[in-house]
Amino acid sequence: MSESIHPAVCSAQPSQRADKNPDAPLFEGAYKERFDHILSRYPNKRAALLPVLNMAQELRGWLSPATITRVAELLELTPDYVRSVASFYTMFQLRPVGRHLIQVCIGIGCDLCGAEEVVEDLLEATGTRIGETSRDGKYTVVEVECLGACGFPTVVQVNDKVYENVKPEDVEGLMKELD
Ligand code: FES
Repeated sequence: MSESIHPAVCSAQPSQRADKNPDAPLFEGAYKERFDHILSRYPNKRAALLPVLNMAQELRGWLSPATITRVAELLELTPDYVRSVASFYTMFQLRPVGRHLIQVCIGIGCDLCGAEEVVEDLLEATGTRIGETSRDGKYTVVEVECLGACGFPTVVQVNDKVYENVKPEDVEGLMKELD
């Protein structure tokens, strides 16, 4: 990678781990403590929906129908309500994604600075199309609107790590880092 590309100082939210487990329990151990802590910060269970969905996705990688049903049970909501909220936000994945979820900003700042070429090179490197997961289950490339680091285009987020100043020539090095 060129010297200009660098990970951002802070990790992104929602955090998504590379070792996510679609069958991870909701929620046990440290995650049960986090769940209880989240509930304690809100006036009712419904108000805690977004952070709880975020934590479920962090653990399982995406929000399957079973995950949505379990979250609904825990928060005493209907699955339809939970699904309607989850589908409103692009940060929530409603279908499985690869171990590395690669989000490329195509907001105006990044778009003007060559995001399209970065997307094309990433798709070629992963052998996928937008939103598809590679056959080996490693990669999913998606386009997103503004990752909040507009001064450092093009911005790419891989799981919970944000890369700034990504140029097409950086894609090869980035892919090696992910392997
Ligand atoms: S436009 Fe790309 S981070 Fe804002």
